[in-house]
Amino acid sequence: MDVTHKTDDEQTAARWNGPAGHAWVEAQALLDEMFKPLEDLLVEAVSAEHGGRVLDVGCGTGGTALAVARRLGAESRCVGIDISAPMITAAQARAELEDTQTRFILGNAQDHAFEPAAFDAIISRFGVMFFDDSVRAFANLRRAARADAEIRFIAWRSPAENPFMTTAERAAAPFLPNLPARRPDAPGQFAFADQGRVHRILEESGWAGIDIQPIDATCTLPESELVRYFTLLGPVGLVLREADERTRAQVVETVRAAFAPYVHGAEVRYTAACWLVTARASSTSVTPE
Ligand SMILES: C[S@@+](CC[C@H](N)C(=O)[O-])C[C@H]1O[C@@H](n2cnc3c(N)ncnc32)[C@H](O)[C@@H]1O
Repeated sequence: MDVTHKTDDEQTAARWNGPAGHAWVEAQALLDEMFKPLEDLLVEAVSAEHGGRVLDVGCGTGGTALAVARRLGAESRCVGIDISAPMITAAQARAELEDTQTRFILGNAQDHAFEPAAFDAIISRFGVMFFDDSVRAFANLRRAARADAEIRFIAWRSPAENPFMTTAERAAAPFLPNLPARRPDAPGQFAFADQGRVHRILEESGWAGIDIQPIDATCTLPESELVRYFTLLGPVGLVLREADERTRAQVVETVRAAFAPYVHGAEVRYTAACWLVTARASSTSVTPE
């Protein structure tokens, strides 16, 4: 039998062009609202004085890139790049509703041939943890940044510090034996949990002035959206697509109960334990191939 194993890169592209990408498009308003405090940390830091050319990496459905463009005004030239066709299509549709010069590119930020030194700042909210080769990807981003430009991104700290994010899979595990195991450091939600690893990746890819700060943001969603949230998104959302009705009902009941500590009346509230990472594009040339 001829078995073809997909590389991490191919798996990432397939995942975000398939069910995960469609789920994020479907839940776009919910996710944008839930992650608004993190968006604010990126948007508040960009300023027209530093230049209006901003790249949003793994921009998804475009909320953060469009928020930056609104802040910087008519002169800004924001660009979002994402590997997911459904998410970029959604971002482009949102851009068409706004008076904006923001462009969205469908591509892999790891290898995309950006114009050298084209950006005054690079940002990302949870869009840089999925690279097959992170050093290569961050070196590619550094070449796209003008000398001294800042990169500022947000990534998750460890699963242990983010129990909300793993509540669904822990509760659903007895009913869903084919839930994929999380692999530490592998491309995925928690790939940047290890602060030392993030520092090494940035250093090896030519970034300087690296600063990695823990941030704890309070995120909320309406209680009325909680079941939709965990049945649509994350590993449980993906596996539930294949589940029969009985299993689905058991999972919904058990997982909803497991989320009880986070439910406060009509609101679900949790702490997002993240890293806020900043660095500057050094002029020293480091070109890992
Ligand atoms: C967790 S989502 C975050 C989306 C968006 N930044 C937000 O906060 O709503 C991660 C995003 O990274 C994108 N992505 C993953 N690997 C990528 C790559 N190699 N190049 C560009 N985008 C990538 C995914 O398609 C997805 O849209």
